[in-house]
Amino acid sequence: MSHWDLPQKASRNIPGTIWSGQSAASVRGVNLGTEKARTKAIAVVGAQWGDEGKGKVVDYLASSFDYTARYAGGHNAGHTVIFNDHRYVLQLVPSGILRPGKKAVIGPGTVVDPVALLGELENLKKSSVDVRGRLFLSNRAHLIFPYHREIEKAAEAARGASKIGTTARGIGPAYEDKMSRRGIRVGEMLHPDCFRQKLERVLAEKNAISQAAYGQAFETSGLLDNYLEIAAHMRGLVADTAVLLNQALDRGETVLFEGAQGTMLDIDHGTYPYVTSSSATSGGAATGLGVAPTRVTGVVGVTKAYTTRVGSGPFPTEMPDLDAQEVRARGNEFGAVTGRPRRCGWLDLVVLRYAKMLNGIDSLVVTKLDVFDAQAEIKVCTGYRLNGQPITEVPADSETLAQVEPEYVTLPGWKTATQGIREVRDLPIAARDYLSFLSDQLNVEIGMISTGPERDATIVPRGTKLSSWI
Ligand code: GDP
Ligand code: IMO
Ligand code: MG
Repeated sequence: MSHWDLPQKASRNIPGTIWSGQSAASVRGVNLGTEKARTKAIAVVGAQWGDEGKGKVVDYLASSFDYTARYAGGHNAGHTVIFNDHRYVLQLVPSGILRPGKKAVIGPGTVVDPVALLGELENLKKSSVDVRGRLFLSNRAHLIFPYHREIEKAAEAARGASKIGTTARGIGPAYEDKMSRRGIRVGEMLHPDCFRQKLERVLAEKNAISQAAYGQAFETSGLLDNYLEIAAHMRGLVADTAVLLNQALDRGETVLFEGAQGTMLDIDHGTYPYVTSSSATSGGAATGLGVAPTRVTGVVGVTKAYTTRVGSGPFPTEMPDLDAQEVRARGNEFGAVTGRPRRCGWLDLVVLRYAKMLNGIDSLVVTKLDVFDAQAEIKVCTGYRLNGQPITEVPADSETLAQVEPEYVTLPGWKTATQGIREVRDLPIAARDYLSFLSDQLNVEIGMISTGPERDATIVPRGTKLSSWI
């Protein structure tokens, strides 16, 4: 019997214990004021290079949580959710918003293009999703300005062949300004005089740098008025979301932390410099929302049954063109945001082991199983060799990672339709064996299997930690 269909092991969220909401001190009637109640607070993270299907997974889980909270990134993310024949692509707004009555938070760790956010809210409105009173935007999140996109365009062009292949949304330059302490935050947009002064000061500084470096200033006419006009629309959303979430947790309400991008795109742990500019791993949930790490009660990692990546950078298990084309066509592997074809490769257990370690993954979700339905044989990378020697960890630098040779095992395909299957027992044996192999190799439960893009095309094996959270 494999790990993933075993009964649940000791959960971190055992009812009736200190973790379920009562501290030992408060049980004895003594409030020492130090221990915090631990209510369900689960992070969902991408275990690969993004686009693992986090949107679908978060949407599925969100009905069992009071809040969904985005902690990093911006509208570089594209999270697809499909139900009732409608396809939603969410970029900054957490996918949990699609569940009526549930609340959603865009946290301080994100970067916000107000024009794009307004567009996203318009689209939601057109789809009859009313966010009023249940979407909260952090006053501490940093703003993306049009000059961030201009800088990014110039930087990518200057890199030539070694360009990162960004989403061109101004994400990196906005985080650069945040870190170099010349960023402007959402809350500041609500105070016109102060905002004007800050923007003028920042623009003077940026233009001085740009003039000196490139002999050219940024085009900024109309910028201030445009942002102030948008600010009027945003006012009702803006809140101190760290206080909001911590108070909700104190009251025993539950929170799902929505990751964007993936572990291998994390600014610290990913394939630097071919990464995004924020903390995509589960630790980012704490810093990006102002919720202490001790409050996170579980972590769900999401992986495809294979691997994809968009943009440049090392990808050890990348498939040869013909195989990649087939998987791309069957899996519809085109970027949800930019429409770019995604690079496709075999599943990489070295990457997933690394992701499990970095994120503390308690439960793994495997998506897109159905994409392999016609596959005769499936390769899985179990290790790397570097200069002929086996290596067990992901090398720190991208140049070395580009040189590793993956070692594969080949498993039989199932050559049967799995699309839409909702019970483990209905899966073909070879598909179950594939999942068992992953579970055993990674020593983690498989808490969910996705067999199609629609909400209902989902299997939740019984007796897992994940099943105890919903
Ligand atoms: P995210 O960024 O992690 O939310 O993922 P994306 O939405 O960018 O990309 C995942 C894509 O796969 C979307 O087009 C989903 O509709 C689709 N998808 C998710 N799960 C499945 C699945 O199990 N099978 C198939 N065929 N498609 C899926
Ligand atoms: P979701 O949340 C896949 C990639 C870009 C590029 C690199 C840097 O949908 O999984 P950036 O614009 O962030 O500076 O680009 O990161 N990238 C993603 N790839 N899914 C995403 O988000 C991504 N967000 C950024 O393609 O390689
Ligand atoms: Mg995506």
